[in-house]
Amino acid sequence: MSYPSFEFLDNTKPILVFGRDGQVGKALQACFTDSKVPVVFMGRTDCDLSSESSIREVLDRFQPQVIINAAAYIDVDQAEVERELVFAINARAPQVMAQYIANIAHGVLIHYSTDYVFADTKKMAYSETDTAGPMSELSTYGQSKLAGENAIQDAFDVTQDSRYFIMRTSWVYGEGDNFIHTILRLAGEGDQLKVVADQVGVPTSAQWLAEITLRMAGSELESGIYHAVPDGETSWHSLALFVIQSAVAAKSVIQVKSENILPVSAANYPSPAKRPSNSRLSNTKLKKALSEMAFISEYPHWGEQVEMYVRDLVRTSLRG
Ligand SMILES: NC(=O)c1ccc[n+]([C@@H]2O[C@H](COP(=O)([O-])OP(=O)(O)OC[C@H]3O[C@@H](n4cnc5c(N)ncnc54)[C@H](OP(=O)(O)O)[C@@H]3O)[C@@H](O)[C@H]2O)c1
Repeated sequence: MSYPSFEFLDNTKPILVFGRDGQVGKALQACFTDSKVPVVFMGRTDCDLSSESSIREVLDRFQPQVIINAAAYIDVDQAEVERELVFAINARAPQVMAQYIANIAHGVLIHYSTDYVFADTKKMAYSETDTAGPMSELSTYGQSKLAGENAIQDAFDVTQDSRYFIMRTSWVYGEGDNFIHTILRLAGEGDQLKVVADQVGVPTSAQWLAEITLRMAGSELESGIYHAVPDGETSWHSLALFVIQSAVAAKSVIQVKSENILPVSAANYPSPAKRPSNSRLSNTKLKKALSEMAFISEYPHWGEQVEMYVRDLVRTSLRG
């Protein structure tokens, strides 16, 4: 890929990336491989985001001008029983980062958020101007991510030249455990799969998200929330069918037949955390921003990215 020039960057200060070992963190590592800018990746053992003093120590040590926060507590069901920890990682940690970057000349904070900040208040895709919440209707994970967004926005002052980008995304897949991996695994194990058909969203490639992130970090775009998802939408059930069809097309031996992938309602699978049934995020604002940066002439559709991802997975497993 081609890199933004990062002309505003003071080369004595690195870009600091949290969440090195997550799906987005790994994709960011791949993106930065040939970049000339100084970048430091932090894993959990380098900096525990549940500890404010650990974060402050790292900020003091590296004095970054740009922070990319790809770390988060994302186990939505377990989050219901670890509220304090979830809020420390998903709300307090980004607040500390934001308060630091807000006071750095030409500082930039990029943070990821989620469709879980919306509580089915709409049937159509949510835009960045739609009101998130209400808190009382969200899962603990959703509440903590919304609190993180609010804390970031509160930390920045329009009179300063530092900026933040909150990239709300959904249904992320990359290197690591995710829905697509699970479907492929289960499809190799049994003759029938039951998949939720009444939750709709947009699968998002971690690799694509990382590429967008680099562009945003090096841009002169205004601070704000950006919905970062490809075009299109699907349900978990339709996604599962698409994944299986893509795997078969890539010559993978799949035990389960498409007609045996059965649509079910989420109501049949009660879970500790509330999940949105409408996870559609409108990407109009991001598309406009990217086209103004002359970055992407053709905005991707989720289908083409999932197909490519499954093809790569199948090729790797056939080789291995
Ligand atoms: N995955 C999705 O479907 C999805 C959907 C919407 C939004 N998002 C958002 O996208 C972002 C990236 O998600 P992802 O899919 O890349 O998640 P992920 O694969 O779970 O990665 C999250 C990373 O955060 C790290 N982490 C967790 N607790 C930490 C702590 N106390 N201190 C330091 N690091 C800690 C984890 O470290 P370990 O590797 O050591 O566990 C992990 O590497 C998150 O902000 C998430 O909310 C994700």
